[in-house]
Amino acid sequence: MLNYDSIRHVKGESIFLDDYNAPSGTLHGAVFFSPVAHGKIKNIDISDALKIPGVKGIYTCKDIPGVNQIGGIIQDEVLLAEDEVEFIGEPIALVVAETQLIARNAVGKIKFEITKLDVITNPKIAFEKGHLIIPKARIYSCGSTENTWKNCDYVFEGTVESGGQEHLYLETQASLAMPVEGGCFKIISSTQNPTGVQRTVSKVLNIADNKVECEAMRLGGGFGGKEDQATAWAVLAALGSYKLGKPVKIVLSRQEDMKATGKRHPYISDYKIGLTKDGKILSYEVAFYQNAGAAADLSPAILDRTLAHATGSYFIPNVKAAGYCCKTNLPPNTAFRGFGGPQGMFVLETAIYKAAAAMNMPPYEIQEKNLLKEGEEFPYGQKTEFCKAVNCWRSAKEKFNLDSIRDETANFNKSNFLFKKGFALMPICFGISFTNTMLNQASSLVHVYADGSVSVSTGAVEMGQGVNMKIRQVASRIFGIGLDKIKSETTNTTRNANTSATAASSGADMNGNATRLACLEIFKRLKDFYIKKNNPAADSEFALNDGYVWINKSKTNFSFEKLVIDAYKNRIDLSAHGFYATPKIFFNPETNKGNPFAYHVYGTAIIVVNVDCLRGTYKIESVHAVHDFGDSINPAIDRSQAEGALMQGIGWMTMEEIIFNSDGKLLTDTLSTYKVPDMGFTPEKIEIEFLENKDKNAGVFNSKAIGEPPFMYGIAAFFALVNAIKEFNPKAGFDISSPLTPEKVLMNLYAK
Ligand code: MTE
Ligand code: HPA
Ligand code: MOS
Repeated sequence: MLNYDSIRHVKGESIFLDDYNAPSGTLHGAVFFSPVAHGKIKNIDISDALKIPGVKGIYTCKDIPGVNQIGGIIQDEVLLAEDEVEFIGEPIALVVAETQLIARNAVGKIKFEITKLDVITNPKIAFEKGHLIIPKARIYSCGSTENTWKNCDYVFEGTVESGGQEHLYLETQASLAMPVEGGCFKIISSTQNPTGVQRTVSKVLNIADNKVECEAMRLGGGFGGKEDQATAWAVLAALGSYKLGKPVKIVLSRQEDMKATGKRHPYISDYKIGLTKDGKILSYEVAFYQNAGAAADLSPAILDRTLAHATGSYFIPNVKAAGYCCKTNLPPNTAFRGFGGPQGMFVLETAIYKAAAAMNMPPYEIQEKNLLKEGEEFPYGQKTEFCKAVNCWRSAKEKFNLDSIRDETANFNKSNFLFKKGFALMPICFGISFTNTMLNQASSLVHVYADGSVSVSTGAVEMGQGVNMKIRQVASRIFGIGLDKIKSETTNTTRNANTSATAASSGADMNGNATRLACLEIFKRLKDFYIKKNNPAADSEFALNDGYVWINKSKTNFSFEKLVIDAYKNRIDLSAHGFYATPKIFFNPETNKGNPFAYHVYGTAIIVVNVDCLRGTYKIESVHAVHDFGDSINPAIDRSQAEGALMQGIGWMTMEEIIFNSDGKLLTDTLSTYKVPDMGFTPEKIEIEFLENKDKNAGVFNSKAIGEPPFMYGIAAFFALVNAIKEFNPKAGFDISSPLTPEKVLMNLYAK
């Protein structure tokens, strides 16, 4: 039986953190969260809570042995509040008790006095008051917008908002910290970034990095929500463990998780677009007001990706994109699939739709006219290489017969009054690499055991995206042996040091490449050993295939196992460490020019929707896409990644709505008030074609990254809905903010 994660998931055999057999005597932590979004702490009284039987300790910022600081990019986030709180859900104290129930009860007995301060939840208001996480605007520009407006036949301006998004990973944030002899700690964490956890634990406990071992077994989903925000819970468990000398486990409840953790960044954006009368975009200005929440987290990096993707799949010769990272009294917002890219692209699509309506031109004509071509330059200075924007667009149009989609939609709308259909196209272009060049490195540790079985450890964290399978496939290709002989290990900082988070869709690319290099090293040793021992004719071709050694394309009777055991007996090193640093990338964060991405991923989707114009409800009828997967090494995984990302993107644009009230309280903190797409909402028809691509792609074995790019196809659902609304109510405007929930659809259907 093949060793598939999916099979174990289905059988319920997969171990997630809370299933892990924690040592006996493990204590449980619960967090006292700020109930107030902004205020000065006057007093915290833990005396009643401490009296509860089974409570072992309660800790506040005063109990931290090292620094009370968990900020990554900017050191602006405390682990436990000091004298001020800045968002509802901010950790103030940690209770450790014999059971989770006792710990939670004790949290309820903590008394707290606070002087409330003004609460800001809107990024533009924060901007106007000068509450910025980074003091200056980040600006990406090319050409001159100022000198170009006068050459434009049409200029349009507007403001548009996009909403946040809850990650809703099935497994909530969780960690288990265990003391180990010599003042060391082992932390198991549901994190995308074990090295990040290791570094922060050592800083907060004031011990060296080599005293902290962090392990991620597998995640029940991360989607970016555990890139930075798994750290606090791991560090809190470690703090409890440090204080009490016992293992401490923290698992957030769903409601705690929804309340206390950051989400996708909502944005408010002002745009101005200038076009010629035949629809060529000459000039584009945009100002992004990013709602960062109360601390930086990854917001500045996310803002950079918004700016990099502000022009989407299009070439625009004159651009000025400015980004403001605005500080509000919400939980610090964080990475979420697309990492700011979707927010950037949505604004330009809005501008194009507004222009198209005013110019009486189908939006897809403007889209098509401006698609990127080979060698054209992005505002950040990189030029397209092996550009597939037009290929994907044309082949989507032809394969899925856009003309007939258009005609059928028009016919349907003519013969139906209360139901209206709409369709929209969405081209995507997504840059692959961490925007921070430093992070584009990965390592792999490969052991071939004496029985011929193989173990691979990398920095990649498995969170459902299939990276473990892809890494096994890489080793399988190089050693010419079956997948059943290869195991992908848990991710552990003692086996792989200084790793980057598994993020930016580059987990398989980078860790796969590091694994390729490590395996090639062992391959070379095995080859040299075989040639020395067996003396085949000079310049014979050595290969490993089908579990055997092949010489000059003919199979020998040397099995891989025999080769390995012989090599072992001859004292050949059967372990290797591979290191991969993505080549040819650089970026100057002063000028905002460079070559930040190893390559780009392209695609085009066509989405058709059907709106019930009496109720405002709608169905996503079909999604047809042509996507550039490169030379996929696992089409089944890649297709499911594309489908999952697409549905998550549609959810962001349509039904998923996060609402905070003006006191900074999250109103949508359960699954009855926060809706995500389910099977019933999933379109009956999702067809994703693989673009034929024989290029030398920069991903592992000529493949391309897949995790995030298809998310942005979801934007087509929004505009398909807008088009359907327009069919019913031509007076509806275009500055509709996302998400387009059924309520909002209804309001727009009857807007005057
Ligand atoms: N797929 C599943 N099933 N679960 C996840 O948490 N995260 C996404 C994507 N696909 C995610 C997922 C995000 S945000 C990223 S960046 C990539 O997977 C990370 O993995 P990769 O780099 O190996 O593609
Ligand atoms: N993508 C995802 N995560 C990141 C990035 C990025 O570009 N940069 C830092 N963390
Ligand atoms: Mo993905 S948002 O880069 O974890």
